[in-house]
Amino acid sequence: MAEMLRIDNVTQAYGGLTVLHGISFTVAVGEKVGLIGPNGAGKTTALNVISGLLPSVSGRVCLAGQDITKLPVHRRIALGMGRSFQITSLFPELSILHNVLLALLGVQKSSYHMLRSITSFKPVNAAAKELLDSIDLWQARDCLPSEISYGQQRRLELTLALASRPKVLLLDEPSAGLSTEESAGLGKMLRLPTYENVAILLVAHDMDLVFGVADRILVLYYGTIFAEGTAEQIQRNDKVREIYFGSEAYRA
Ligand SMILES: Nc1ncnc2c1ncn2[C@@H]1O[C@H](COP(=O)(O)OP(=O)(O)O)[C@@H](O)[C@H]1O
Ligand SMILES: [Mg+2]
Repeated sequence: MAEMLRIDNVTQAYGGLTVLHGISFTVAVGEKVGLIGPNGAGKTTALNVISGLLPSVSGRVCLAGQDITKLPVHRRIALGMGRSFQITSLFPELSILHNVLLALLGVQKSSYHMLRSITSFKPVNAAAKELLDSIDLWQARDCLPSEISYGQQRRLELTLALASRPKVLLLDEPSAGLSTEESAGLGKMLRLPTYENVAILLVAHDMDLVFGVADRILVLYYGTIFAEGTAEQIQRNDKVREIYFGSEAYRA
């Protein structure tokens, strides 16, 4: 499989505290990789270095063979890096349909006044309908985000993250705040053909979600890759069970 994302010997520190100790891994085209590990292991920091929110102290990040280590966030997005944040990215005062149209057109909310004329543009409307149909939200298109369930909001956000056709999607705890059922729905969604060609790096402490979605799992522990394998291998790994499943942080 061709390589889409390469993290090469990346080190990151906050002040004097080193939180990533030269981590290296790759994600292939369309591959789903889960990144798990106890609280404070460095998972979010790793995603921030990859998306460009944080410059790494040393090491390299490559996207589709191109060294992007020094590129700012917007250049990485332009090259195909998508990200779904833990905080909601929906505009609360706009209808669901208008949120979708904004995402599809890749326009800023400031140019929203232009949208009224654009909504009559057939191809965009057809794409919006297809997208909303795929997550059963077409009927709710005139509702505000607050009028649909939290689980539906997360599914909508995830779908909108695809609107810019990213090659890589970085997900940090996408199931945070969801019920078990909603989280399962999200997991199913990530296995749909729509996501087939999108390389996904999934950070989550919801084990069912990670084991259900990821082709391969990396375990981060104190800023180093502690173990790597399939869901089955990780579940059977005694050392992982000790640091992860035995950890108080995950008994809750
Ligand atoms: N902005 C920051 N300033 C200082 N320390 C931070 C900052 N963000 C995270 N840390 C520390 O870095 C370590 C890794 O954090 P993080 O990447 O958020 O871990 P995870 O996402 O795996 O829970 C933790 O010890 C955390 O306290
Ligand atoms: Mg985190």
